[in-house]
Amino acid sequence: MEDRIEELREKRERALKGGGEERIESQHEKGKMTARERIEYFLDDGTFNEIDQLRTHRNHNFGMEEKQLPGDGVVTGYGEVNGRKTFVFAHDFTVFGGSLGEVLAEKITKVMDKAVEVGSPVVGLNDSAGARIQEGVQSLAGFGEIFRRNTEASGVVPQISAIMGPCAGGAVYSPALTDFTFMVKDTSHMFITGPDVIKTVTGEEVSFEELGGAVTHASTSGVAHFACDSEEEALDDIRQLLSYLPPNNVEDPPRAEPWDDPERADDSLNSVVPDEPRKPYDMHDVIGGVLDEGSFFEVHEGFAKNVVVGFARLDGHAVGVVANQPRVNAGTLDIEASEKASRFVRTCDAFNVPLVTFVDVPGFLPGTDQEHNGIIRHGAKLLYAYSEATVPLLTVITRKAYGGAYDVMASKHLGADVNYAWPTAEIAVMGPQGAVNILYDDELEAADDPDARREELIAEYREEFANPYTAADRGFIDAVIEPPETRSRLVSDLELLRSKRDSLPEKKHGNLPI
Ligand code: COA
Repeated sequence: MEDRIEELREKRERALKGGGEERIESQHEKGKMTARERIEYFLDDGTFNEIDQLRTHRNHNFGMEEKQLPGDGVVTGYGEVNGRKTFVFAHDFTVFGGSLGEVLAEKITKVMDKAVEVGSPVVGLNDSAGARIQEGVQSLAGFGEIFRRNTEASGVVPQISAIMGPCAGGAVYSPALTDFTFMVKDTSHMFITGPDVIKTVTGEEVSFEELGGAVTHASTSGVAHFACDSEEEALDDIRQLLSYLPPNNVEDPPRAEPWDDPERADDSLNSVVPDEPRKPYDMHDVIGGVLDEGSFFEVHEGFAKNVVVGFARLDGHAVGVVANQPRVNAGTLDIEASEKASRFVRTCDAFNVPLVTFVDVPGFLPGTDQEHNGIIRHGAKLLYAYSEATVPLLTVITRKAYGGAYDVMASKHLGADVNYAWPTAEIAVMGPQGAVNILYDDELEAADDPDARREELIAEYREEFANPYTAADRGFIDAVIEPPETRSRLVSDLELLRSKRDSLPEKKHGNLPI
C-alpha cells in the first residue's frame, strides 16, 4: 500500500510542475504567473479542488506520443470565491503553450458542464497559443464544443474570461461569448489574425499592443470590459464583480451587509445639474450621491464613455446602473453607447439584478457616419433590451429626455416600474431651439427682429414644454422629486419590487436586432 501511495504522491508532485522549472521560469520572466499561481491567488485560501490533474493527450502525430505532460495544458476544478462555489480553468502555458487539443478541451467542457449542473459561475483564465497544431481538426472540434457550451450556459451561470497571455484566431471566440472579459495591459493580446498576417495581406503595419492589447480592446473595440494593470488586479476585480452576481439565473444576487444610511439625503445633489441647460456635468456625481457610498463598480469604463454602466448597491442590494454621461458628447446615444448599454441591461436582466437608469439625453447622435453604420439597428438593441427586461426597472430623469431617446432610456412605456424626474428635467419631443425653428419657421422669417423673437419663443417653449410636469400629468412620471430624496425613494421602491413577478409571452427566443 505504501508503495502505491508513494507512486500517487510522485505523480501529483510531478503534475504540479506542469512543463517543468525552466518553462515556469520563462513564464515568470514574461511577467506572468503560472496557471496554478493564478488559481491560488484567485480562490479563497485552501479551497481549490482539482479535477483531471493527471490527464494526458492521446495524440500520435509528429512524435507527440513521446511528449506527455500531466494536465495537458490546463488546470481545472472548483473552489470558493468569497465563500461561494466557483468553477475555474486556467491554461497552463508551460505545457505545449497551453495550446488547445482534444483532451484539453474535454477538461474545460467537463467543468463547464458541472458548473451548469450545480448552478455556479465559470471563470476562465486564458493564456494559450491557440489550436494545438499537432492535433489538427480535433483541436477545432474542441473549440467548437466549448463555444456551444458557452452559448448554452449564457444567461444560466455567469461566465467570466480573463486574458493573461496570447489569445488568437478561433480562441478569441470563447471569451467573446462569455459575460465579461478582462485583459492585462502589456502581457495579453487578442486578435483574429496577428500583425504578420495583416502585413502580408493588407500591407498595414501594426504592433501587437496597438492591434489587440488591453487598452485597444477596452477603449476602441469594446471587446474587453476591463483593462487591468496587473494579473493580480484582474483577479481581484473578478472577485469583486462576482460579488454583485448570483451564482445562477434562478437565484438572486447576495446582499452585502449595508453600511450606508438608506435615508441619507445628499444635499449636494441639488447643485449637480447646472442652471445653464447646455452645460455639462459628471453623472458620476449623481451615481455617487444616490447609491451606497463607494459601491459603484464601473464596467466598460474606457469604451463609449457617453454612457456609464456598472454595478452598485442600494442598501446592500446589488443593482445595475445605466446612465447617460453629459460630459461626453453631451450624453447623446450613438452606436457604441447603444451596444454597451444594451449588453449590460441584458446581462443584469439575465441574472436578476435590478436596474437603475439615470437619464440626461439630448437624443441620438446625428450624422451620416452614424446613419450609414446602422444607428437605427443598434439603437433598437437598447429599446429591445429594456423592453424585454423583467427585473425591477427604476428610472430617474435628471435633465434632458428628448425625442426617441426619452422612450429608449427605460421609460414607463417600455415597462419601467418607477419613473422619477428631478425639477430640472426637460421631457419633450425635442429641445427648445429645434422645436421653435420648425414650429415658427414662417413667423420668424417675417419678424422684424428674428433673433429676439426666437429667444422669446424659446423661453415660452421651455416654460411650457421643457419641464417634467406634462409627463407627470400623464402619469409617465410617477413623481417629480427633490434630488436628495432620490436615494430613500429608490431604496423603498426596490424593497417593494423585490416580489415583482413579470414574464414574457412564451416563445423559442426573440429576434434581437443584432
Ligand atoms: N500548438 C502546439 N504547440 C504550440 C503551439 C501550437 N499552436 N504554439 C506554441 N506551441 C508550443 C511551442 O512549441 C513551445 O513548446 P516548447 O515549450 O516545448 O518549446 C511552447 O508552446 C511555447 O511556445 P513559444 O513559441 O516558445 O512561446 P512564445 O511566448 O515565444 O510565443 C506564441 C507564443 C503564441 C506567440 C507562439 O507560440 C505562436 O505564435 N504560436 C502559434 C499560434 C498559432 O498560430 N496557433 C494556431 C492558430 S489558432
